[in-house]
Amino acid sequence: MKKISIAIDGPAAAGKSTIAKLVARNLNYTYIDTGAMYRCVAYCALKNHVNFDDETGVSALLKNIDIRMLPDGTIHLNQEDVTSLIRENEVSMGASLVSKYQAVREFLVDKQREMAQGGGVILDGRDIGTVVLKDAELKIYQIASIECRAMRRHKENMERGIASDLEAIKAEIALRDEQDMTRKISPLKKADDAIEIDTSDMTLDEVVAHVMNLVAQRV
Ligand code: CDP
Ligand code: CDP
Ligand code: CDP
Repeated sequence: MKKISIAIDGPAAAGKSTIAKLVARNLNYTYIDTGAMYRCVAYCALKNHVNFDDETGVSALLKNIDIRMLPDGTIHLNQEDVTSLIRENEVSMGASLVSKYQAVREFLVDKQREMAQGGGVILDGRDIGTVVLKDAELKIYQIASIECRAMRRHKENMERGIASDLEAIKAEIALRDEQDMTRKISPLKKADDAIEIDTSDMTLDEVVAHVMNLVAQRV
């Protein structure tokens, strides 16, 4: 069967990575979490006491950044396992702030295209269908209401035993979406040829089945 490239974009907590992982497993494709790469840059800035607002400082970090996404799903930054460290709230907001810099985007987009070479890949992020994989055979724009997205994150936190405030989560993702949608370079938007899926009232199984159908039409 032909191995295609799949792009999934959408706002924070729309379920992109959950769906991408499940579809990748079904198809035996490689899943590439591009958000994790922006999170690594933000984490690196925090660790080196570089302010997220300092474009020159953040850009200067790039020459010493080595990001490895291992087949077991862990993420290593300069040999340190940062898989859970990059999920902290401070890093989420930092990722959204450093992702507006041209040097950061060019550096990571190059890496992402290199990893995507040959197809059989599924990438999720904000600019996959519009910039990174403009020629992807399948593009999905995954959305859900803000209430729904905040509630999903809240539930996740509670299941993990992490203190969680629903209103604070809602405010954080709304602010991050606003930043991601209004930045000058590669803002989050639906590609003209992307298929929109509103997952607000769908179960995970329903979304996966829908995506698998779309894949079947293309391979
Ligand atoms: O990657 P993104 O930030 O878009 O979202 P995520 O990290 O996959 O988080 C989405 C959360 O919503 C996960 O806990 C999913 O189990 C849950 N969920 C979903 O993604 N889709 C549904 N239809 C229902 C629940
Ligand atoms: O999981 P969640 O949806 O909360 O965020 P993420 O996908 O891990 O992305 C974190 C941040 O990185 C986003 O808010 C964007 O600012 C940025 N990002 C981006 O600019 N381009 C991408 N392809 C992926 C993420
Ligand atoms: O030129 P080459 O394909 O060797 O490298 P590239 O331009 O960096 O592209 C690497 C991969 O990114 C390609 O194989 C495509 O899968 C994807 N790509 C795309 O889908 N749309 C673009 N406009 C550019 C690259």
